[in-house]
Amino acid sequence: MVAGGDAYGKLENAALAVAGDRIAWIGPAAEARGRAAAQDIPIERGDGLWITPGLIDCHTHLVYGGNRVEEFEQRLCGVAYEDIARAGGGIQSTVNATRAAGAESLRASAAIRARRLMSEGVTTIEVKSGYGLDLATERRMLETARALERELPVSIRATYLGLHALPAEFRDRRREFVSNVGGPWLEALLDAGLVDAVDAFCEDIAFSLDETESFLRAAQASGLRAHVHAGQLSDMGAAELAARYGALSADHLEYLSARGAQALGSAGTVAVLLPGAYFTLRQTLPPPVPLLRAAGVPMAVSTDANPGTSPGMSILIALNMACTLFGLTPEEALCGATRNAARALGLADEIGTLEPGKRADFALWRVERPAELCYNLGANPCAGVVYGGEPRPSSSA
Ligand code: NIG
Ligand code: FE
Repeated sequence: MVAGGDAYGKLENAALAVAGDRIAWIGPAAEARGRAAAQDIPIERGDGLWITPGLIDCHTHLVYGGNRVEEFEQRLCGVAYEDIARAGGGIQSTVNATRAAGAESLRASAAIRARRLMSEGVTTIEVKSGYGLDLATERRMLETARALERELPVSIRATYLGLHALPAEFRDRRREFVSNVGGPWLEALLDAGLVDAVDAFCEDIAFSLDETESFLRAAQASGLRAHVHAGQLSDMGAAELAARYGALSADHLEYLSARGAQALGSAGTVAVLLPGAYFTLRQTLPPPVPLLRAAGVPMAVSTDANPGTSPGMSILIALNMACTLFGLTPEEALCGATRNAARALGLADEIGTLEPGKRADFALWRVERPAELCYNLGANPCAGVVYGGEPRPSSSA
């Protein structure tokens, strides 16, 4: 994962120099030793460890109240996710719990989840709103996301997931809800500095292509890039829509046509694969990875951490599942939580690879070879993290 390296972009017996919060130099360890001695630069040794860029979890719903264990049981007794949603459960039940939760309890529970991710070498987390669905609670969720970055040594991207579900109080006022989301609510959240990007759940049980498009148009007019939950349960053409608006990413994509894959490829939109949700919903049709490869679509991998479809906080398990369930190679999976995840967040110039000039976010691993990061199921070989040039105390993760 170093520019100019071989498979995985890997360099052996290498050293990396940090100046301030940036990577200053990467090269052979022997050369580094000479230079460091000449300039009296302190050396940290990491003999036998691998270094990767800090991992990036580019699609999470980390901030929420309550849990969905009852729904988990219902689903295992044969009730479908869609039917639970149509009956007013699912996302709406987390909306109820999130509205009822105080700011402090939201913050505390989100911090615990963020720490879990951080313990596995994660240095950047995208956090979506979408369990408020009224202005006050969406604001509270996004403020909680921002507060995480102040509280913990981790970088946060806050996404306004305005169109996630139609809240009960708007059942007969769909159009009004959609126009609030892309109108006054977007403006208020943007003015408060709480929005880095937007997202919409384009699906039969959520929002139509037209509704999603109206939100993407509003976001574009405000200079914001978008993510789209696309093709999770059916192919409505959401990937093509995302591509048409130059979205940063289209996420899920179990249901995706060759045309959709080509549209993503031409637009440079990243396909964010979410095997944790696929696993939890016991889906059987994986995303068409061969089509994505053929169309040259960059693939990212993320946890989708959320109480309903992916109650997991492990990026390493997501990498394992991306390989075992979706057929990614370990190299593709690792690239999916580093280089391509950075691209999915519009941060490719800043993070995601080990290159001079990029932020000095990296993780050290006690593994024999990089594929071991995908091979282990439930082990955590992370031996240390440097975030913004500073070693991260293990107590903070
Ligand atoms: O990414 N698909 C929509 N959003 C989430 C699930 C939300 C939920 O069920 O709470 C997802 O799978
Ligand atoms: Fe999601």
